[in-house]
Amino acid sequence: MQDPAQPLRPGPAVISDGPTILDRVVNVASVRQRSPFRYPGGKTWFVPAASAWLASRPRRPALLVEPFTGGGTIGLTAAFEGLVDRVLLVELDPAVAAVWRVLVDGQGPGLADRIMAFECTLDNVIETLARTPATTLERAFATIVRNRTARGGIMAEGAGLIRVGEDGKEGRGIASRWYPGTLRDRILAIHDIRDRLSFIEGDGLGVIEAHLDEPDTVFFVDPPYTAGGKRAGSRLYTASHLDHARLFARCASAAGDFLMTYDDADEVGALVEAHGLASLPMAMRNSHHETMRELLIGRDLSWVAGTAPVASKPVVGPGRRMPATRAA
Ligand SMILES: C[S@@+](CC[C@H](N)C(=O)[O-])C[C@H]1O[C@@H](n2cnc3c(N)ncnc32)[C@H](O)[C@@H]1O
Repeated sequence: MQDPAQPLRPGPAVISDGPTILDRVVNVASVRQRSPFRYPGGKTWFVPAASAWLASRPRRPALLVEPFTGGGTIGLTAAFEGLVDRVLLVELDPAVAAVWRVLVDGQGPGLADRIMAFECTLDNVIETLARTPATTLERAFATIVRNRTARGGIMAEGAGLIRVGEDGKEGRGIASRWYPGTLRDRILAIHDIRDRLSFIEGDGLGVIEAHLDEPDTVFFVDPPYTAGGKRAGSRLYTASHLDHARLFARCASAAGDFLMTYDDADEVGALVEAHGLASLPMAMRNSHHETMRELLIGRDLSWVAGTAPVASKPVVGPGRRMPATRAA
């Protein structure tokens, strides 16, 4: 994590004189949660900015590709809000993919029933996770159980189960993040709009490459952060290996627009510059209430200038401007 007191990455161009949507730390409680996952690195805090980006397109995009879906927060928001015609979700982790398959294939109500019938005790959780799933529905169910009972929602190997309770719900122990009614409602809502969603289990980079020539296709790219030797991606996700240089090259060459979020690492800055892209620092607050920085990267971030914050909360200090690190 960067020290919030550190100066922002310097850049020559000032993108906006007034405060923009990136100038506030989003209160995630104010954002409508659509995903059944609690996802490490989830982008709930980025929903207002991503929505503003999609709404700023001169024409409503025909397709939004989310090549690194995880909890799929941005793709789901775009589909629910009608910000694009269709959404294509892509995920490599087979356990996470099972959930998306079930949701998109019309088995959402079956998954919701399994969740409602489950008694979330430590014994039942251990038994569910030890079973070899015979169907995609069973696998999806086990993934949701794991996601809701693993510490921090981390499903990568080595993450332990919640024992004492999280989020002020210490008395509820393993069930402190198990909200069956909420999960059912979210799953059934997704079921209702599933005709706007498609899902591919596979490599997101390959799917980007398959859609490079489509001017009406846009990409929201939130890869596992392993660039510049950062370890978070490999600790948080089962699938974390990625050729970041190739990802940048492909996005930069796409006919349609794209938006990336990345860790603010030197290697990332170098790739931004090498491809003549724009980047802006963004503030976010993680689940430990620490303010962190990520980079917003795109071909043209001028749409940010037209996005006033709903409620401003200075992150760096009074009078600061957001510099755009557009490479020459
Ligand atoms: C940073 S997370 C995405 C979080 C997501 N934006 C959200 O709001 O929940 C990155 C995701 O990419 C997945 N992933 C890693 N490598 C991948 C690849 N080559 N293709 C597709 N998905 C991949 C990981 O399993 C992880 O779920």
